[in-house]
Formats: sequence, C-alpha cells, structure tokens
Amino acid sequence: MRIDILTLFPEMCERVLDESMIGQARKRELVDIRCHNIRDYTDDKHRRVDDYPYGGGQGMLLKAEPIARCFDAIARQQEQRPLFIYMSPQGEVFRQSIACELSQMPGICILCGHYEGVDQRLLDEYIDRQLSIGDYVLTGGELAALTITDAVTRLLPGVLSEDKSFEDESHYNGLLEYPQYTRPAVWRGREVPEVLTSGHQGKIEQWKREQSLEVTRRLRPDMLDK
Ligand code: ADE
Repeated sequence: MRIDILTLFPEMCERVLDESMIGQARKRELVDIRCHNIRDYTDDKHRRVDDYPYGGGQGMLLKAEPIARCFDAIARQQEQRPLFIYMSPQGEVFRQSIACELSQMPGICILCGHYEGVDQRLLDEYIDRQLSIGDYVLTGGELAALTITDAVTRLLPGVLSEDKSFEDESHYNGLLEYPQYTRPAVWRGREVPEVLTSGHQGKIEQWKREQSLEVTRRLRPDMLDK
C-alpha cells in the first residue's frame, strides 16, 4: 500500500514514521509512505503557501494551487487514483473500522491542514473524505495524519509479528481487550487469575470473553449500546 502525506512539516512526519514498527514496515517495504512538502509546489520565489481570506476573518488560509499541484503529481505516479483525505476537526471521527477500510485500498493521500484552513475550492475539487481524530483542535493536521498512518499501516499484511494478533485487541470486534498478565505469577501480592494457569483452553477463552464484556461495560458502555 502507498500512503502520501502533504504537509508543511515533512521532517516532523519523517521522524515519527522512521521509528518503531512503522519504521520497520517501511524498511521491509511492506508499506510505501512518502511525505511531501507543500512548499515545494509553489511557483513564487517566496514559496508562499498561505494568504488572507476573502471577506476578512481571522488568520491565513492554505492556497489551493500548490496543494493541487502536489495532488496531481502524486496521482500521476499511481495506476489508480488514491483516496484523497483531508485531516480536519470538522471531519468524521476516525475509528478502527475506518482504519480497516483504508487498509484495503491501494493508496491514500492525506492533506494536513494548517493555519485557519484551506481554500474551500481545493476541498471541493479533490477531497473524498474528511477525517478528524477527535473533538478537539490541534495546531495542524500532522499528528492526526500520523495517527491514521499508524493505525492503517499496522493492519497491513506482515507488519505485526503474527497476522492474527490484532483480532484479540481493543476495538477489533467492537469490545475492549481483556486484561493480560505475564510472569511472575505473584507480583506485590497480586496473583494472576487462576483460570489463566489452569491449562483449560475452553475456560480460558470463556474468561477472556467475559472480561472483555466486563471491561467494555465499565470503561466504554457506549460501545455496548452500538
Ligand atoms: N487538525 C486540527 N485538529 C484536528 C483534529 N482533531 N483531527 C484532525 N485534524 C485536525
């Protein structure tokens, strides 16, 4: 899968994406992630990406043309047009099912917003989907784009050590994950639940399911309503 990120801060994105499991996935060529500096697609000597809003108002807006040029260049490099995504607090709130959906696509291209926003005509012309990572406002879309890139990349085949290891985790099946324990069997007087050391696989599976339900009921009752 290919993921392109359009940003004013490509080094910031690269730093994050070169670490840990995503960095490993890139090295192993399980995903092709490319960060693009919107400023490289300007045509004036000041490399200007923003301007004042028509009609007045607070702050500056990202101009349409540099972003459009960058989108076009990215699209030309691929057989199939990627899904163009705009990160914005106004977007649909990101969740695991969207991560799964995006991970099935050949390519996604994520625009990070900045300043007070982007010229609406650019959004109307290109954007397929607006996504938010939650009901709060960040200084820019980079952390949001990185969040999505991480959540999508870890679902790609081969990225996790075992292909099935996300099937047990929180949100995969609409429930939170059951509690887990490792050695020692007793730590500061706290014992591992007996069933987990019983060797009885059927009982262990049943316990995990009950605990998942219980944890979800306690921490995120809204998930059970759905
Ligand atoms: N840009 C600023 N805030 C954001 C948010 N909550 N989600 C996505 N992009 C954003």
